Amino acid sequence: MCGIVGYIGNRDAYSIIINGLKRLEYRGYDSAGIALYDGEKLNLSKTKGKVVDLEERVKKEIPTNGNLGIGHTRWATHGVPNDINSHPHVSNSGELVIIHNGIIENYATLKKELINRGYTFQSDTDTEVLVNLIEEIQKQENVKLGQAVQIALNQVVGAYAIALIDIKKPDEIVVAKLGSPLAIGIGEDEFFVASDASPFIEYTNNAIYLEDEEMAIIRKGRDIKVRKIKGDKLVDPYIQELKMNLEQIEKGGYDHFMLKEIYEQPSVIKDTYRGRLLADRGIVRLGGLENYIEKFTNADRIIIVACGTSWHAGLVAEYIFEEWTRIPVEVEYASEFRYRNPIITSKDVVIAISQSGETADTLAAIKLAKQKGAFVYGICNVVGSTISRETHSGTYTHAGPEIGVASTKAFTTQITVLTMIALKIAKVKGTISNSDFMLYLRELELIPSKVEEALKSNEKIEEIAKVFKDVNNFLYLGRGYNFPVALEGALKLKEISYIHAEGYPAAEMKHGPIALIDEHMPVVVIAINSNHYEKVVSNIQEIKSRKGIIIAVVTKGDTTVKEMADYYMEVPKTPEALTPLVTTISLQLLSYHIAVMLNRNVDQPRNLAKSVTVE
Ligand code: F6R
Repeated sequence: MCGIVGYIGNRDAYSIIINGLKRLEYRGYDSAGIALYDGEKLNLSKTKGKVVDLEERVKKEIPTNGNLGIGHTRWATHGVPNDINSHPHVSNSGELVIIHNGIIENYATLKKELINRGYTFQSDTDTEVLVNLIEEIQKQENVKLGQAVQIALNQVVGAYAIALIDIKKPDEIVVAKLGSPLAIGIGEDEFFVASDASPFIEYTNNAIYLEDEEMAIIRKGRDIKVRKIKGDKLVDPYIQELKMNLEQIEKGGYDHFMLKEIYEQPSVIKDTYRGRLLADRGIVRLGGLENYIEKFTNADRIIIVACGTSWHAGLVAEYIFEEWTRIPVEVEYASEFRYRNPIITSKDVVIAISQSGETADTLAAIKLAKQKGAFVYGICNVVGSTISRETHSGTYTHAGPEIGVASTKAFTTQITVLTMIALKIAKVKGTISNSDFMLYLRELELIPSKVEEALKSNEKIEEIAKVFKDVNNFLYLGRGYNFPVALEGALKLKEISYIHAEGYPAAEMKHGPIALIDEHMPVVVIAINSNHYEKVVSNIQEIKSRKGIIIAVVTKGDTTVKEMADYYMEVPKTPEALTPLVTTISLQLLSYHIAVMLNRNVDQPRNLAKSVTVE
């Protein structure tokens, strides 16, 4: 995720763009940049860091006058956060300037072709490839900017919201969208472009939200022409009247960032496997893994180190890796691992999982593993974070910034990456049949729509939350792949509602926790169709006969558990190994609604921090 802003009109573009970028920093804040046209030339400044760092840089580097400009706040995907990789990017002639939110999947092929035609590149970004592709098309085909953009976008695979300026035509901004958001604010003789309406809400209430595969040519003092990117159809755009306030807009209309992030999961899971998973062709391709596959296939053991929710993702991975790759897996709390004297050899592979990439304990565990000669692979969300730099190689989750302190989309995207890694290794090792491999690739591609379906139970889950918001204790039970989901569900509830909750493997209940069960104890049981279904049904009976209250997560179409449970939350049928990606959604929503009803600070629960950089 990145934030983009553009302005064309009669006001001072600089302050509109800078203020707009500050409002969009929730979308990414590792680097920022701005390009302003002062009537004669284009002045550009960009820097690693936040928008305030950009302001400092601009003061020293460029004049800030001009009524046309574009700006960007970045969440790195291709290329580490540094000055050069920051947007805007300029074409080789210096005439075209672009900002981009998204990922161009086939940028490497396009880049090669452009290099063969004599183009040079300063940055590692996919965006610089796109701007030069547009330039090349303009030259070769002798077409106007809008047409060149259209032709280029038809050659591009991936996702984008772009805004582009051609200094030869300083009365025009060209924008286009596929998969990333783009709003156009319509004022009097002026237009605004942004990832959401927050940068222009004080100037106008009228906005067009471009649909996927639409582009627009915006002309100062004139009109907006919206057209389809494929074909020649012009679109009559729908102008919306905005009724939201600033804060609501930043949260995408959701009451909390946590809820927004829960609802983002279908799209960010897609972003996680975009360009990496090609189910039709039976391909999983993870850049960071390609050169190190043998480290995994020859490994005696995989040790996963992480904390909190990331540790739970590691536990899910333990089941997946052992099942498919037949490599023994140990999952360690990073904080414990670093303080004992663990046995690690050069034949071990250590996987470190961290959303922030800054967790002190995980970082210390990585350093220890490296000292002892292990190969260390990182799975992080934040590009360029310390852990991503300290590990030998790794894969980013591409979940976009997670603002809510309680991890939601980080968990499901970590599991998505771990699933792809396990499938790839199993395929190379020959420990998974071709038919299973193909099945799981196809099923992984179906997960976003299954998550959407699980989200449809939201209102029902809210009703369940009403019933239980005032209890003091909860138990969460799950078996197999869903035992870690039970732990994660309990953690979510504890951290945002402050209600005490425990997660257990369902069969462990009779070894102690069953003593807690009475008519006041709600027990959340993940009772989906699986190899353990009958056993979980028995566990539910044991709870019922002690008057416990059952809230079950069930597979759509289930009848047995539905009849036994006091309340149930449905999820779509999914192959067992992938069920954590859907069952966890119901538990995220349950804890969210309980916390809201208790008036908790959902996005910033007491005593917690988003990134734990101390021991
Ligand atoms: C729980 C939560 C924490 C983090 C943990 C690790 O919702 O957010 O438990 O999962 O602090 O953080 P990362 O993944 O950034 O290393």
